[in-house]
Order: sequence, then C-alpha cells, then structure tokens
Amino acid sequence: MKKLLIANWKMYLSKVETINLVKKIKKLSVKKIEMTVAPAAVYFEAVSKLLKTGSIKMTAQNVAAYESGAHTGEISAMMLKEFGCRYALVGHSERRLELNETDPLIREKIKRLFEKNITPVLCVGETAKQKFSGERNQVVVQQLKNALSGIDSLVKKKLVVAYEPVWAIGTGKVVAIKDLEEVFGVIKRALSMLESEDYFNRQVLFLYGGSLDDDNIEQFASLDYLCGFLVGRASTNADKLEKIIKVLGSF
Ligand code: PGA
Repeated sequence: MKKLLIANWKMYLSKVETINLVKKIKKLSVKKIEMTVAPAAVYFEAVSKLLKTGSIKMTAQNVAAYESGAHTGEISAMMLKEFGCRYALVGHSERRLELNETDPLIREKIKRLFEKNITPVLCVGETAKQKFSGERNQVVVQQLKNALSGIDSLVKKKLVVAYEPVWAIGTGKVVAIKDLEEVFGVIKRALSMLESEDYFNRQVLFLYGGSLDDDNIEQFASLDYLCGFLVGRASTNADKLEKIIKVLGSF
C-alpha cells in the first residue's frame, strides 16, 4: 500500500511561499506515495487551482464543529468539500492546547467530516508530563474513545489516526520505534473494542507525526504497520520534502 504523506504547513507560509512550494512539489514524482498538502485555509482557492491536474490532494488543518450558520471565523465541512479537501486534521495538539479544544468538540468535528465524506485525521498523543508519569496509553485510549464512541456507522467510515506525541512536535525529538509499536498496539486494541478488529484492519490508517525530517524518516518508512506520516516544519522546505518523498517512494 502507498504511504500517505500529509504536509502540514500550519501558519508558516505566506501566499507566495505556499504557491511556489506547491509548484515545486508538482514537478516531483509523487506517484509512489499518496501525497497531500495542508495549506492555510485562506490559500485553498489558489492551491486547489494548482492541484486540479496531478495526483496531489488537499488536506484541511481544521474544520468547524457546526454544520452552518452564525459561527464567526469558522470554516464548515461543506466549504472544505467545495475545495476538494480529501482529509481534515482534527484534535491537533496545538489546537487542544492553545485553543482548549476538547474531546466532545473534536467528536462533533469528526461527525461533520463524515457527513461530507471527508476523512478525519484524528491526532492523539500525550504530553511530556503524561509520558513521564506513565499515562501515555491511558491518555491515547481516552482521546480515541471520547472522540469516536457512539458515532453512527463508524464501521463504514475510513479513519486516519495520527499518533503525535506532544513532546515530539517541533522539538527535534522523535518517538522510539519500540514505543511507536506499543502505541500502535494500544490504538489497535482500543479501536477493535470500539468496533472490531476487522474494522481496524480495513478502515483505519495509522500515521506518526512529530519532528520527522529528511534525515530521520528512513527508520520509520520501513515499518509496515505505519501507513504514513504527518510532517510539519520539514515539509515547508522544498529540498527536505523532496528527500522525504523519495525515501517514502522507495518502500
Ligand atoms: P513537526 O509537526 O513535524 O514540525 O514536528 C508535526 C505536526 O504537528 O503535525
């Protein structure tokens, strides 16, 4: 199966920088992976025009928990759909921590995305404090359960779960392979209990994100239980991104 690569450009790039980067990626050979970029929403129009041809897809960094109406500053799932977004991030730790996004809110966002057939990329992960106090598994399971339990027809929906330990995001520290494998097992068990193991095997993609770079991606690329990667900072640099794409394409 092709590895999924989500380039999360956060609030790093200007319009010109975003357009130039998309143009550069379009020239690369991305056929061996599933490549998607997550620009700032204000650049959706420009980016979606550039992506009309080729296989690169667009991911949204966020979505509103509401369907429509009086919600100043929000962007609905329907609006994401209009621009052809295939995926949308939900529960990113930067939003959980900076904007106090809670599990119930994240759950509503997931529902809105499912209603529009956009695949949620549910980000879960523990803080450094939780890691050191041995709470990692409990935190991850709780985040999954709170975000997904009771969602109608979950069994029919494609879902991406991205394990992004908070202590690894933007810090230069990556997860140890042994820990990643453990967390994969924890997530698999939690979702198998929520639905079934068959659901997990057929509908769920497991990603890792946190300080991935062109010089550390290789050790993760060969792990067969890992379906892809969420890359932040390094994905805003055309040369690093090119190397990452090359490495992922070679597995
Ligand atoms: P990073 O961010 O690659 O800059 O650590 C990853 C993410 O937040 O998705």
